[in-house]
Amino acid sequence: MPEELDALLKEKRIFKPSAELLKNSNIYRWMEKNGIHGYDELLEEALKNPEWFWDELAGELEWFRPYNQIKKWDPPHAKWFLDGKFNIVHNALDRHARGPRKDKTAYIWEGESGEVQRLSYLELYREVNRFANALKKLGVSKGDTVSIYLPMIPELPIAMLACAKIGAPHSVVFSGFWAKAFKERINDAGSKVAITIDGFRRRGKLIRLKEAVDGILDETPTLEKLVVVKHEGLDLDMRKNRDIWWDEAVDGMEEDCETEEMDSEDLLFILYTSGTTGKPKGVVHVHGGYAVGVYATLKFVFDLKEDDIWWCAADIGWVTGHSYIVYGPLLLGATSILYEGTPNYPDPGRIWRMIEDYKVTVFYTAPTTVRMFMKYGTKWPEKHDLSSLRLLGSVGEPINPEAWIWYHKHIGGSKCPVMDTWWQTETGMHLITPLPISNLKPGSAVKPFPTVEADVLDDEGKHVKNGGGHLVIKSTWPSMFRTLYKDPERYVEAYWSKFPCVYLSGDVARVDEDGYFWVQGREDDVLNVAGHRISTAEVESALVSYHTVAEAAVVGKPHDVKGEDIYAFVMLKEGVKTGEELESILKDHVRKEIGPIATPSNIKIVSDLPKTRSGKIMRRVIKSLIKGEDVGDTSTLANPEAVDGLKKVL
Ligand code: WT7
Repeated sequence: MPEELDALLKEKRIFKPSAELLKNSNIYRWMEKNGIHGYDELLEEALKNPEWFWDELAGELEWFRPYNQIKKWDPPHAKWFLDGKFNIVHNALDRHARGPRKDKTAYIWEGESGEVQRLSYLELYREVNRFANALKKLGVSKGDTVSIYLPMIPELPIAMLACAKIGAPHSVVFSGFWAKAFKERINDAGSKVAITIDGFRRRGKLIRLKEAVDGILDETPTLEKLVVVKHEGLDLDMRKNRDIWWDEAVDGMEEDCETEEMDSEDLLFILYTSGTTGKPKGVVHVHGGYAVGVYATLKFVFDLKEDDIWWCAADIGWVTGHSYIVYGPLLLGATSILYEGTPNYPDPGRIWRMIEDYKVTVFYTAPTTVRMFMKYGTKWPEKHDLSSLRLLGSVGEPINPEAWIWYHKHIGGSKCPVMDTWWQTETGMHLITPLPISNLKPGSAVKPFPTVEADVLDDEGKHVKNGGGHLVIKSTWPSMFRTLYKDPERYVEAYWSKFPCVYLSGDVARVDEDGYFWVQGREDDVLNVAGHRISTAEVESALVSYHTVAEAAVVGKPHDVKGEDIYAFVMLKEGVKTGEELESILKDHVRKEIGPIATPSNIKIVSDLPKTRSGKIMRRVIKSLIKGEDVGDTSTLANPEAVDGLKKVL
């Protein structure tokens, strides 16, 4: 029997942490200090008294003025650490740069073509201060949102920290999105200042980002200044009085800059994420609670200690990078790897070579990456010494047991527990996750983090004993998003209206007899492509914006590496002829409207789409069709004959 199949059949196995790992873990030590014996007791005590738990952890950070109330939970609105004066950057940077960690490496950056740069806490601090002063000189003051469009280079965390330091919220836009997404976000946030780069390489290919940005800046009325990082040495057309090179902006700036004393509840950042409509949601996080939440989860879930080398192989443009590349590790004073490129470039040995070279101890990636490497085979990781690893992590989508077991065995040498962490842009921190003291079941994200009350409910709001239901959270947690930027109604409507006072995650999950959570995927029209969240509506509206397209329906088809593959069904306007090239023109169009990750892998031109009598496209029917399943009852369709038309093109 093939080995992986054998593993899958043994899926019911439980993986227990070694006594050594368990006893030395941060969480175990903390439990000893607090007189708690065992995982179950920890979860029980924390649920009974969440304020005790969070007060202890918040006490490990420095407050300019102590808070006088731990939380105020007025569902659906929460405030944490009330009246506290705080700045996340003071805790992530200033206190380390002025203390014993000043010469410790904060980031080891490796470029895609192999160049390496190390930044100590003191060096990072100076760079941040210089750029913070530059931002002030450009007219940024407390409360102004700065939009940032940069790839994975040191200037990205530097820019974010500089903003937070002076109390200016940042809005980072993933560099893999196309410039139009940047424009929309600059306009939504009303930024006066934005930051981008001349160009960068992805798989060796040069991407000329500044030139793409030039194409949208006529439609950003609030924007006054564009700071441009010179990374590729491109000779560019710099618009007078608007564009300024990063190096010129920081030239002559002081290496000291005062850190703004913020209120715990002041805005730290906006991060746009996909919802069920075409308009992205501006998820809002604040200084105090967010800091305490990411600090606590990184400390307890990934168990970071002074000598660890941490690598969260995500992009900072997503929440994983905000929480666990930028803020979390710096709050803990850790050393992190920052890698510019793709994991399999120039060959599938790249990341394993880096783990060996830098002696990475804790590694965090997405299931899609694990599955991609499974396909390349074990010969690539086998070429490298991965024995420095002691813990592994997974995030972004459900990890199938087969991939879990491969990761555990071939990357973790059968000795590293896999932390399958469930969370979202909205939650800011891990909410359902194992701890190093938990017994693991491959494919399960285990149990809620201490103090978090999660449940699985049916449509009536009753707990589901067997089978799937709505994954909800019934408590508040410090790094909970506070609202949606400029859209408080949508905040209530999208997350808090199905069940009163209960947070609706949008995921389907089930709980087993041991109380373990198994997250199955999204229940709404949100796709998960390679761990990235994309709404069907966004791709549809990009398609419809093409002049010959009348209507479009986008669905996800299960894919064994990417999780989901994007399929688009397009109806053309009356009288338009379909040409050979139309499919590739439309793919290109979506790529330019949103970005490469949202590009459909398949586009089919159809003459009709299945709809309800009220005119709503039935994506469920299309989904069943592409999966080759029975479409079920089509009696509610206004045009059942559309189904036959679809069958013909598939
Ligand atoms: C959605 C959130 C959280 C950082 C990266 C994505 C899916 C995330 C898991 C997991 C199963 C997961 C969910 C969730 N997801 N982690 N461990 N197991 N599903 O952040 O872009 O806000 O996406 O990703 O569907 O709702 P995001």
